[in-house]
This record gives sequence, structure tokens and C-alpha cells, in this order.
Amino acid sequence: MSDNSIVKKVTTQTLQQMKKDGEKITMLTCYDYSTAKIIDQAGIDAILVGDSLGNTMLGYSTTLPVTVDDMITYGASVVRGVKRAFVVVDMPFGSYQGDPRLAVKNAVRIMKETGCQAVKIEGGREIEESYKSILSAGIPIVGHLGLTPQSVNKFGGYGLRAKGSEEAQILLENAQRLQEYGCFCVVLEKIPARLATEVTQTLSIPTIGIGAGNQCDGQVLVYQDMMGISDMAMPKFVRKYGNLGEYMAKAVSEYVSDVKSGGFPSEQESY
Ligand code: KIV
Repeated sequence: MSDNSIVKKVTTQTLQQMKKDGEKITMLTCYDYSTAKIIDQAGIDAILVGDSLGNTMLGYSTTLPVTVDDMITYGASVVRGVKRAFVVVDMPFGSYQGDPRLAVKNAVRIMKETGCQAVKIEGGREIEESYKSILSAGIPIVGHLGLTPQSVNKFGGYGLRAKGSEEAQILLENAQRLQEYGCFCVVLEKIPARLATEVTQTLSIPTIGIGAGNQCDGQVLVYQDMMGISDMAMPKFVRKYGNLGEYMAKAVSEYVSDVKSGGFPSEQESY
């Protein structure tokens, strides 16, 4: 796809039609302009500016310290790099829970100041009023169920969710509720594949899985994980498609040795 070709933007309707047509939806996280441009041109359907940027870009050990301002800075830079892909921005911890008026205020800010097409929030019935108030402002929402990292302290870690039948039933009911509220899509994170399949078959809106088996309507991975940039231990659902960390380290060490030896810049690289 060349830079000046006419590109048809992916919308909420496109993603819903993909589910109807049985076409898988591809989604990656992304947090910056340069990477957004590359992955958009490579044909990704949707980009999530995840609050995982707290880990990948800001070096926090959880997503909890991420602010609305952080999401706006990174979200706006991604939107500037994208022509085709659908862009959704996460609402960070504390920006939508417990106060529906604050939720809609923050969602409106994120939409206005980033130019994204939707927001994503974590949770089910317990944040029903936040879902409803944001949706009432005409803002599309991607719900997020299963392992919701903003609740890491409640869960006591990042383990598999909804293993037992009680939690699985609650998750299924919550997924149905999110569809009833008017969410156009749901992310299912780290739950048994069988449960994700049941949710996917029950809902008419698309499900996007991460660690939720291959029967979801689409898949999402964190870019740094799938590209091999992150040096952290990876959960088994991450497939590594690149070794960028090693490639970058090699390029930097070659640069260091060229500068140290006086081999860079050459005469041709000088004025
Ligand atoms: O923040 C994020 O990257 C996410 C994905 C893991 C779904 O929420």
C-alpha cells in the first residue's frame, strides 16, 4: 500500500461485518507514530493503544500508574501514523470506575484529543453505569473481560481467569450484558479456550482474544512481546514473530564500535 493510495478506513461496522463473514480480525498494541505507520501499512485491521504502555513504554511494573494524559499523548501519536486501521485507546485505571460522569468526561477527552475511534474499559456489571454513560455520548466501547490487568491486586497476579464454573458463568453473563449495553466488541484475556468459544458463539459482536484460544473472532498481542523486544518472561500465549531486541542491540553495538574506531562517519557521509 503506497503512501498516496486511497485507503478505506476500518470502522466499527467493518469489524462487525468481519465477524458475520467469518473473517478473522487482527489487532496489535502500538504506542507511537513510527510503529503505527509500519503496522498500518502492513495490513493490521485494528490497533489498541493499550494501557500496557505503562509497562512497555514507561517501565512501570503494573498499568495502575498510567494517566489519561499518558494515554492521550501516545494515542494521538498513533492516530497521526494511521490511515486504514481502526484505533482504540484504553481508559486507564481510575478514569472510569465508580463515577459515570467522570467516565464520560475522560472518554470525551480521549476521543477529542487523540482522534481515536473508540475506547476500551475493563470490567462487567460492576461498572455498568460507566459503560452506559460513555455509550450515551455516542462513543463506541470495546469491553474487556477475563484477566483485566487493572484488577491485578484483586486477583493477586496475572493467572488464568474463569477456570471454575462459577467465574465462567459470571464472565459469560457479563459478555452478554456488554453486548446489551451497546459495546461493539469485547476483548477476552487469558481464559480457557472453551469458554472463549462459548462467548464468541453466544455474542453477535466480535470477540478479540489474547490467551483465549483460536475460536475468538480476532486476536490481539502486545507488539513488544510478539516482536521480541521485551526481556520479560512471556506467557505461553505469546508467539514471537521477531527478534527485534537482539537486532537493535546488534545495530547499536556496531554503531558504537564504528564511532569508537573512527569508522563513522566516512568521507561520503561528511560535507
Ligand atoms: O493494555 C493492553 O495492551 C491490553 C491488551 C493486553 C488487550 O489491554
